[in-house]
Amino acid sequence: MPASALMNVMIKAARKAGRALSRDFGEVEHLQVATKGPADFVSRADTRAEKMIYEELSHARPNYCFLMEEQGEIEGADKTHRWIIDPLDGTTNFLHGIPLFAISIALERDGELVAGLVYNPVMDEMYTAEKGRGAYLNDRRIRVTGREKLEDSVVVTGIPHRGKPGRERFIHECRQVMQTAVGIRRTGSAAVDLCWVAAGRFDGYWERGIQAWDMAAGIVIVREAGGLVSDMEGENNMLTSGSVVAGNPPVQQELLANVTATPAPRA
Ligand code: IPD
Ligand code: CA
Ligand code: CA
Repeated sequence: MPASALMNVMIKAARKAGRALSRDFGEVEHLQVATKGPADFVSRADTRAEKMIYEELSHARPNYCFLMEEQGEIEGADKTHRWIIDPLDGTTNFLHGIPLFAISIALERDGELVAGLVYNPVMDEMYTAEKGRGAYLNDRRIRVTGREKLEDSVVVTGIPHRGKPGRERFIHECRQVMQTAVGIRRTGSAAVDLCWVAAGRFDGYWERGIQAWDMAAGIVIVREAGGLVSDMEGENNMLTSGSVVAGNPPVQQELLANVTATPAPRA
């Protein structure tokens, strides 16, 4: 299916920022040997990419609102549309020279997610989806896996990083899932996790404590690939609760039941 006018706008913004991030990623790999570390450099790359995306999108759709990781909320005259953007999801990977990171752009219309794009410029993988039009990896249509049981599944998760609450609870959830699933993976990018579920690389994904911009685009992509996405209550409040469980339909349900099975410590 040829990309819609809307998707072309999103693709153009992502490709432009992707070129800049790829260049910066090449630099960061050299900086690994420096003792001072490339953290400031990466945060500049992040801000620059977000600015590029913002400029492209606000030029093409001048009245839409924005929610961006770096600049926060920017109000527009058209309150029915909102872009939700993470210019660099997988910052720790980027900083350490690991080529698993992505640009994430979603569009919300009347509070509903209607379009999503996730682009990993190093692997040149562009995931796109619009409500009712299917999900794509570059030009190829993608679908979630057909596995029916968690015991046959490889699932992915996000580990709370140092200083973040919820570590004990996470360990408890992992223990639950490990008893059944074939294996658990961690990529370091929530956007990539969701897209790899959509592309059939993982059967399921769960994480708590993430932000709207980490998951908004990926949610549309998983749904359009035939998957299910909910929060930990089984509801559709992922963006506000910060929790997400995704997967092919039976595995999503079983994963949700496993993760929430027994009362877990909140620490
Ligand atoms: C992070 C990634 C990671 C998730 C973290 C996020 P960032 O986003 O999505 O997979 O576990 O919670 O903060 O900081 O790399 O944009
Ligand atoms: Ca992020
Ligand atoms: Ca980010």
